[in-house]
Amino acid sequence: MGRWSGIAGFSACCACSLFGIFFFIVSLGFSFYMFWLWFRTFPPSISIEMFGVPALNKTSNGTFNIIDPTITFDLRLKNENLNEGVFYDTVNVTLYYYHTNISTFSPIGNTSTHAFYQGFHKKANRVESVKSYGVPWNIAKMEVLNGSTTTFRVDVDTRIRFRYMLFFLWSVNGRKYTIEVGGNISVNDQGIKSVKKGLRLSAI
Ligand SMILES: *[C@@H]1O[C@H](CO)[C@@H](O)[C@H](O)[C@H]1NC(C)=O
Ligand SMILES: *[C@@H]1O[C@H](CO)[C@@H](O)[C@H](O)[C@H]1NC(C)=O
Ligand SMILES: *[C@@H]1O[C@H](CO)[C@@H](O)[C@H](O)[C@H]1NC(C)=O
Ligand SMILES: *[C@@H]1O[C@H](CO)[C@@H](O)[C@H](O)[C@H]1NC(C)=O
Ligand SMILES: *[C@@H]1O[C@H](CO)[C@@H](O)[C@H](O)[C@H]1NC(C)=O
Ligand SMILES: *[C@@H]1O[C@H](CO)[C@@H](O)[C@H](O)[C@H]1NC(C)=O
Ligand SMILES: *[C@@H]1O[C@H](CO)[C@@H](O)[C@H](O)[C@H]1NC(C)=O
Repeated sequence: MGRWSGIAGFSACCACSLFGIFFFIVSLGFSFYMFWLWFRTFPPSISIEMFGVPALNKTSNGTFNIIDPTITFDLRLKNENLNEGVFYDTVNVTLYYYHTNISTFSPIGNTSTHAFYQGFHKKANRVESVKSYGVPWNIAKMEVLNGSTTTFRVDVDTRIRFRYMLFFLWSVNGRKYTIEVGGNISVNDQGIKSVKKGLRLSAI
């Protein structure tokens, strides 16, 4: 009798510690999940909110009277993370024009903005004007006059680092990530992008 109860006592204790181990593993997993939720990192969302080409802005009498190679755009960089700030290196922007006849993009201008820091859940807008070169304006004008559009392209290159809060202290992740995104922009005969909504640039 004494022997059996000894064994029963042993297995009860064993079950109890198994439960303990199980509970420990589950709570560890849960903590990792919470940790992941808080610390998961997204690259910044980069979009073109405005794109203006005055040379393609038709006047009320249906002609283009401005010879102005300037292109103005509004670049928006948005940090969507809950816990991370973002350090941006110099942000390089390259503009291209799409030659329909040969189905290729050729560079027509570039600019860059200074390095900066962006706190979590913050937006930054950079309005830039670039004096373009090499756009075949006569062809571009013909394309838009047709009620159609002509295509430009914006590529954005930069490197970023993340800064995050850990145990109430800010730490900087030493690793640098390269961001390379781009998007096609259709411009109409009002010299603006034909889509009202901002255009989110995607990885290239
Ligand atoms: C186009 O021209 C009109 C006036 O003719 C002006 O009001 C408008 O701002 C211009 N648009 C762009 C994108 O330059
Ligand atoms: C169109 O209007 C501009 C001024 O806005 C004028 O300079 C040009 O001569 C006009 N063109 C035609 C064909 O009427
Ligand atoms: C294509 O068009 C560009 C101007 O957009 C012109 O310079 C080039 O010569 C054309 N190429 C061919 C093969 O037609
Ligand atoms: C940037 O633009 C300048 C002219 O403004 C040009 O000389 C240079 O080649 C361009 N760089 C790139 C990478 O396209
Ligand atoms: C004008 O549009 C027609 C069809 O809508 C197209 O076939 C033609 O190639 C266009 N012309 C130019 C110069 O884009
Ligand atoms: C941006 O341009 C600068 C100067 O041309 C260059 O040193 C830097 O490497 C470029 N950055 C990226 C991410 O391409
Ligand atoms: C931009 O347009 C070119 C040519 O039409 C196409 O090959 C490319 O996939 C387009 N890129 C995006 C991001 O839509």
